[in-house]
Amino acid sequence: MTKQPKNNRQASARLDELYELIEEANRRYYQEDSPTISDAEYDRFFRELEALESENPELARSDSPTKKVGAKPSETFQPVPHREPMLSLANAFSEEEFLQFDQRCRKLLEERAKELTYIVEEKFDGLAVEIVYEHGELTTASTRGDGEVGENITANIRTISSIPNKLSKKGLSKLGGPERLEVRGEVYMSLDGFKALNDRRLAAAEPAFANPRNAAAGSLRQLDPAVTARRPLEFVAYGLTSPSELPIGTQAECIRVLSNLGFQIDPQLLEKADSEAVLNHFLALAEKRHDLPYEIDGIVAKVNSFELQQVLGTRSRTPRWAVAVKFKPEEAFTVLNDISVQVGRTGVLTPVAELEPVEVGGVTVSRATLHNQDEIDRKDIRIGDTVVVRRQGDVIPAVVAVIENKRSGDEKKFKLPDTCPVCGSDVGKESAEDVGVRCLNPRCPAKLHERLKHFVGRRAMDIDSLGSKLLEALAESGRVSSFADLYDLKQEELASMERMGEKSAANIVEAIESSKDVALARFLFALGIRHVGERTAQLLAEHAGSLEVLRSMGEEELEKISDIGPKVAASIKTFFDDPQEQAVINELLRRGVSPKAVEQNSNGAFAGETVVLTGSLSSLTRDEAKSLIEKAGGKISSSVGKSTTLLVAGEKAGSKLEKAEKQGIAVIDEQTLLQRLNG
Ligand code: IVH
Repeated sequence: MTKQPKNNRQASARLDELYELIEEANRRYYQEDSPTISDAEYDRFFRELEALESENPELARSDSPTKKVGAKPSETFQPVPHREPMLSLANAFSEEEFLQFDQRCRKLLEERAKELTYIVEEKFDGLAVEIVYEHGELTTASTRGDGEVGENITANIRTISSIPNKLSKKGLSKLGGPERLEVRGEVYMSLDGFKALNDRRLAAAEPAFANPRNAAAGSLRQLDPAVTARRPLEFVAYGLTSPSELPIGTQAECIRVLSNLGFQIDPQLLEKADSEAVLNHFLALAEKRHDLPYEIDGIVAKVNSFELQQVLGTRSRTPRWAVAVKFKPEEAFTVLNDISVQVGRTGVLTPVAELEPVEVGGVTVSRATLHNQDEIDRKDIRIGDTVVVRRQGDVIPAVVAVIENKRSGDEKKFKLPDTCPVCGSDVGKESAEDVGVRCLNPRCPAKLHERLKHFVGRRAMDIDSLGSKLLEALAESGRVSSFADLYDLKQEELASMERMGEKSAANIVEAIESSKDVALARFLFALGIRHVGERTAQLLAEHAGSLEVLRSMGEEELEKISDIGPKVAASIKTFFDDPQEQAVINELLRRGVSPKAVEQNSNGAFAGETVVLTGSLSSLTRDEAKSLIEKAGGKISSSVGKSTTLLVAGEKAGSKLEKAEKQGIAVIDEQTLLQRLNG
């Protein structure tokens, strides 16, 4: 946060800066649908402005962005005055801030506080619209605009199939057949729709939308409704104006009425919630949000009773009876300082974005993958660009789009080199299907280093005391030129290497020694055969039963294994036919590495079970739990499906737990897991 200015002059100057910044951001966001700062930055500036104004009320402008909503409607659309202002929502960025909101409500409600319950809705990430129905027929639809006057988008709204042109007669008569109804809700784009639209745009050499919200806003605010009609827009209704004139008393009833009238409503409402239930729901949705087919950026908690809402009233731009509890933003804007090139295990050259460090979803991101040259060209990413970086769940951060209107003209286009940045050999495509290019030198030290890192990995040979730096040094010095060389390493020579002590050298030698006794599946995975991940390695091990059998299998035989297609079969065959790979495997075996298929333990505590793990365990890592369950005869699967027989739910288990419960699958906790493993 920027330092607080000390005197009046400084405060006034900073206020002017913030006014300008926020107004410009509002204009870009609401009128041009192409923001130039991230939501997180915007929220920070807005908070700073609020704080500064409350400390210096005499300096606050009467038309400050803290007192109004959105931006002036654009003149390209006809103005539509809202009979009732369309307000915004106050934000809570933490659980504490929500509890402060709850306390404020209780204080204002005095003795009526005991009647207070909340209804919790999802906060859809789209744009607010108002749709007016007269005698049950859609007559006008408008955007929020500045809250008082919106933009007429009636023709565009009519193209959205989930918005009824006529309201259900039954629904209307239940409401006493009102002459005029004003429905409010959010127009948004589903993730599938967004992806399909962007694919279409990129194929037509049009710039992609940075996110579904921009895509929805850009699609709705089109002059030609035929364009809107081709965009996959959806609508969810969450409110009616002047509800006190209707025979309903709560927001929960309002939503039911909207559903009866023919609108889509929030599929995950939580009713009758106290503050604790609100926060629990918030946490559950925070975990589940990536499984949803649309984007939400938080939840909205609303005081359920309209009577209590009226007691609480509204401020100039936000009601006192509702609050948006926001998730940590997963997208941020930052500058792409440079693009470096990494050479992977299979020699693929991957362009990596070197970013101005920026916080995304609670962690600092300074590098992100750019995938390959095609991707860079499609998105027209240039060095020096301001880009949108996205981090979702545990996924590696990626650059999703460029903010073109931030370009100065000095940005530089990027082209992957024609030679390997590590060994200088030629690069090229190995087969027509290759998306990226590879270093064609089989002895490229970068490939070796990456392959060694993979080989010693925890899920492979599990010699993770051999760190990346050490492997790099061993590969570069030529001391280790294949997996087999690892098994010749002596304690003394390791101890003499830089930053190594006797103790760690001894640990490494011991870890190398004990890795010799290895499960066949792990060994196959460790070899780094192209297209053979952990699951395929497991399938191969189960099917072949031994390394000898697998080495002698032909492509046709391999293809008979379910889930193994021609591409994977060919890659396995090529690998085992390669004289160099054969020599390494033979050397490994000669040095005592002895891969064995783990027998299916049909008497084990988990025999016959297909187990899914979710949430966090306190006494075991996921990998440990997995391998113990497998040793006890169980199969591990990553998602809850038809074959799942048991779910192990750790702390903060989310959607998988819900799904398992829905499907009637048995669920056990960590303690029961341990008991069964030990018993
Ligand atoms: S209620 C006075 N409910 O969030 C209450 N808004 O930041 C105003 N939004 O302008 C809106 N989901 O565009 C409400 N379930 C929901 C919402 C929602 C998304 C949007 C809406 C609003 C903005 C405020």
